[in-house]
Amino acid sequence: MKKLSTTTLILTGIIIILAAGLIAVLIFTGNQEPPTRGVEPLVKIAALEPDSAQWGINFPNQYSTLLKTGTNNTRTSYGGSDPISKLEADPRLVTLFAGYGFSKDYNEERGHMNSLTDVRATLRVNDKTPGTCYSCKSSNNPGLWDQMGMAAFDKMPFAELGTHIDEPIGCANCHEAETMRLVVTNPALAEALAAQGKDWTTFTRQEMRTVVCANCHVEYYFKGDGKYLTFPWENGTNIDQIAQYYAESFADGSFVKDWEHAQSGAPMIKIQHPEFEFFTANSTHYNAGVACADCHMPYTRDGAAKFSTHDVKSPLLNAEVACGACHTDVGYVTTRVKTIQDQVANTMSATQNAIIAAITTIEAAAALPGVNADLLTEARMLHRESQIYWDFIAAENSMGFHNPEEALRILANATDLARQAQLKAVEAAGSSEVLQTNGQ
Ligand code: HEC
Ligand code: HEC
Ligand code: HEC
Ligand code: HEC
Repeated sequence: MKKLSTTTLILTGIIIILAAGLIAVLIFTGNQEPPTRGVEPLVKIAALEPDSAQWGINFPNQYSTLLKTGTNNTRTSYGGSDPISKLEADPRLVTLFAGYGFSKDYNEERGHMNSLTDVRATLRVNDKTPGTCYSCKSSNNPGLWDQMGMAAFDKMPFAELGTHIDEPIGCANCHEAETMRLVVTNPALAEALAAQGKDWTTFTRQEMRTVVCANCHVEYYFKGDGKYLTFPWENGTNIDQIAQYYAESFADGSFVKDWEHAQSGAPMIKIQHPEFEFFTANSTHYNAGVACADCHMPYTRDGAAKFSTHDVKSPLLNAEVACGACHTDVGYVTTRVKTIQDQVANTMSATQNAIIAAITTIEAAAALPGVNADLLTEARMLHRESQIYWDFIAAENSMGFHNPEEALRILANATDLARQAQLKAVEAAGSSEVLQTNGQ
């Protein structure tokens, strides 16, 4: 008995010690911070924060690769970021844009960090330039649009608005600070999608990896006296629907022209970088579910970290990563790019000759005293239409690669319209003596 009670005492003691230990552990863990998933943000980023360096504290890989877009200066056969003069490379552009700023200054585009320097340096900007020209150039914009509204932003003269802008393109142009999700930041894009009955907040993540680029890489125009930024998407986003939109806005007088052609006298439309519209017009890659970011922002490894490179550039400069994620034979697909681009460039060259022949024939016809004014107007409208189609491919930055079949279809249509314009001018003159062929 005596022996047993000693054992009981010892056991009871052990149990008490264990219980106390357990309670201590429970109290200790109960007082700890709640567990977190992943890495805690180092700093809280303010909503619409324009300074990418602030975001960069939390996301150093994305920030440091974004900075690289400021310095890479490499040329490819038809792209890259060497800001060569397109006018020197192809002097026919001076004739095609006669009477407009693009005939004075038109350079190859560069990486995102150069956007502010380049828009301030271009000779196309002058005293009359509206603030609208800053729309795609700065991470200050989302904050300014929020404060003053887009109408006031667009109406303000370029120079005055410039005093509020000191950042190039940055995180705030594509991400929402609190959630880091991709967002539509440009009110003109939100409005253009809404006009088509689309609500971008319902788009999938993969769709947003393309739509986020449509904040800027799209065709647009400045509507009315307030120079209100507008995408001509009411009928849809392919070139035929855009051309139809401009035909309607000409007919009802709501938007007549960007400029009058100095030689043909036609009321012209300048097309601007329609990468989004061209790529999404049933291209092979788009139909296969591939997004802009798949090729231009591929996943990259830096030690253990895997992230989307923000060094957005020609994918030909890092094809192993950009194309290699899906294609095993990268050499084959990059050779295909060259073949496609050469073919589109040659076809486009023939289109340009046809448009210039139309321009000079219309000019000669217009100089005749007895010219038929109605037929001359028809010839000018055909010149306008032809150049809208041509410029959709010329101003698009992939030299046809984003949608090769569509590029050739559009250029064939442009050439046909240019020849019709030329013939209509001969008809207006009533004599084939005005026919200009430029050696063609
Ligand atoms: C399947 C891959 C792929 C997809 C998807 C893609 N691109 Fe491209 N992009 C290319 C290639 C290849 C070029 C040609 C680069 C060259 O000529 O150096 C190019 C060229 C460009 C250029 C001109 C680059 C330069 O170096 O001058 C821009 C701008 C561009 N793409 C934007 C976009 C946008 C915006 C989207 C989505 C709407 C998109 N791309 C979708 C592969 C792609
Ligand atoms: C031109 C638009 C654009 C800009 C500017 C931009 N991003 Fe991104 N970012 C993207 C896209 C597209 C993705 C891919 C998103 C996805 O796959 O869901 C992405 C992904 C990310 C991700 C998710 C992880 C990853 O790497 O895929 C983080 C974090 C991020 N970006 C941070 C930043 C920061 C910080 C900045 C500014 C220094 C910035 N981004 C600027 C478009 C942009
Ligand atoms: C806020 C407007 C804006 C957004 C959003 C934007 N871009 Fe750009 N992008 C520009 C401008 C402006 C330039 C030309 C800058 C210059 O030449 O100084 C440019 C240039 C480029 C170039 C040419 C780079 C080079 O090295 O030649 C590529 C490629 C490109 N963008 C792809 C994309 C893709 C892909 C997306 C979406 C993930 C995107 N951009 C989103 C405005 C934007
Ligand atoms: C996210 C996946 C993905 C990426 C990245 C990608 N491709 Fe593709 N590519 C496809 C798919 C899918 C197809 C069409 C189906 C097939 O190959 O059978 C395709 C088809 C092609 C074709 C044949 C097109 C045709 O009309 O027949 C070429 C050329 C091509 N890709 C080039 C490239 C180049 C160059 C790059 C890099 C700049 C690239 N792709 C990046 C998925 C991708």
